[in-house]
Amino acid sequence: MGNMGERALTGNGESRREMMPSWQKEQAEVERVLSGLSRRAAWSGGPPIANVLMARVLAQPDLISLAAGFVEHLSLPVELVERAIEKLFSSRTVALESLQYGTTLGHPRLRRAIWERLCQEDAAVGLRHAGPEQIVITAGSNQLLYLVAEALLDPGDIILCAAPSYFVFLGMIKSFGARSVGVACDHHGMIPDALEDRLAWLERRGELDRVKAIYVASYFDNPTGLSLASERRPALVEVAQRWSRKHRLYIIEDCAYRDLSYYEEEWSSLRSYDATGQYVVMLGSFSKSFSPGLRVGWGLLPPALLDPVLSLKGHHDFGSPNFNQMVMATILEEGWLEEHVARLRSIYRRKLEATLKAVEGMLRPVVAVDYVPPRGGLYVWLQLPEEWDTGVEGPLFQSAVEEGVVYVPGEYCFPEEGEPPRRCCLRVSFAMPDDVSLEKGMARLARAIARCGSAAPR
Ligand SMILES: Cc1ncc(COP(=O)(O)O)c(C=O)c1O
Repeated sequence: MGNMGERALTGNGESRREMMPSWQKEQAEVERVLSGLSRRAAWSGGPPIANVLMARVLAQPDLISLAAGFVEHLSLPVELVERAIEKLFSSRTVALESLQYGTTLGHPRLRRAIWERLCQEDAAVGLRHAGPEQIVITAGSNQLLYLVAEALLDPGDIILCAAPSYFVFLGMIKSFGARSVGVACDHHGMIPDALEDRLAWLERRGELDRVKAIYVASYFDNPTGLSLASERRPALVEVAQRWSRKHRLYIIEDCAYRDLSYYEEEWSSLRSYDATGQYVVMLGSFSKSFSPGLRVGWGLLPPALLDPVLSLKGHHDFGSPNFNQMVMATILEEGWLEEHVARLRSIYRRKLEATLKAVEGMLRPVVAVDYVPPRGGLYVWLQLPEEWDTGVEGPLFQSAVEEGVVYVPGEYCFPEEGEPPRRCCLRVSFAMPDDVSLEKGMARLARAIARCGSAAPR
């Protein structure tokens, strides 16, 4: 990893924002001022990738989307939610409570149920300096990511992110006028030595004090589907502690996909290696493991972040929907989540294996595709030979749309600075399409690749 810093200083490693022509920047600034918009609005600007892809899907209804991070539609837990509502409404007092405003922190029954589940999941190492009183409920874990970013970031501040990372969070960082700086990953997730090199590099540039946090999705990551190796978990926490100089350097541990483990593997969370409980912000979600429509997420926060996040949340919504929280609490208390997760695991494992079979049987004959088989989650990250360009303006994306399939171009998933974006990668989501569409979608992707030819023009 020795020359990682040098690589980052050159070529593609430059900030892509800085690479925008100055006349374009000036023009955008004039338009912003004329429209009376805030800087924040401008920083948030540009159609998010989801909108670009959604516009394509709407324009072509028979398009198969291997892009959306949606869960499988027909496996959504209709009956379990029906039972939970019936149970809630069997008591008029509880029914009335569920239809009233709740607290900013979240419903105590849900926070207690999440805490108990967490204690079981992290029993191997244990969770120290933690308790249900540090759990905040949000409308999806995305809101928690936003609130933590809002609590930490001033314009110009930095979050170190795994390269590649969850692109929605990268956009969020930018919306605060802050910078996402990439840290190299391999098949076992973020590399602790690379993190250290990146911190040393920022220190040499006099920018260490701008670094506020390190973002890692530790289980079946989006977009790679890979998990952080066991021995790297305490190592990353140790690096964050050691590099906390003028201020604390937090680790934001995103566990959105923790439940979606298909081969009975478990890892202790990074939070469990944070003996003081002051460094790791752990967040989770029931969107992928239960229902994104209920939109229930949570965070286990270090004490120093609890009040600031709650104050900010108070400005956003003074509490996530109480009804949804009480439905989710009932689901957890009755043990119905485990029942549902067990079903999902077998459904998604089958779909993951079907996707990998299609990669081998359909893509490999037409291109030298490289990938690491994920052990859970909803995504497969494919790497085509270096000269390929999977971007929306590139030939492969165009021919994929013509064939009737879309994917997420890999370049969207890279932080703005640091590690160079891998334009030859793409993310395939296997959860949403049914079995037939999934196979058809992969066949269409293979045809699009074959049409572009192995010369792969850029
Ligand atoms: C890595 C990761 N974190 C967080 C989220 C946010 O999910 P939600 O807000 O539905 O909990 C997603 C959604 O796709 C994700 O992929």
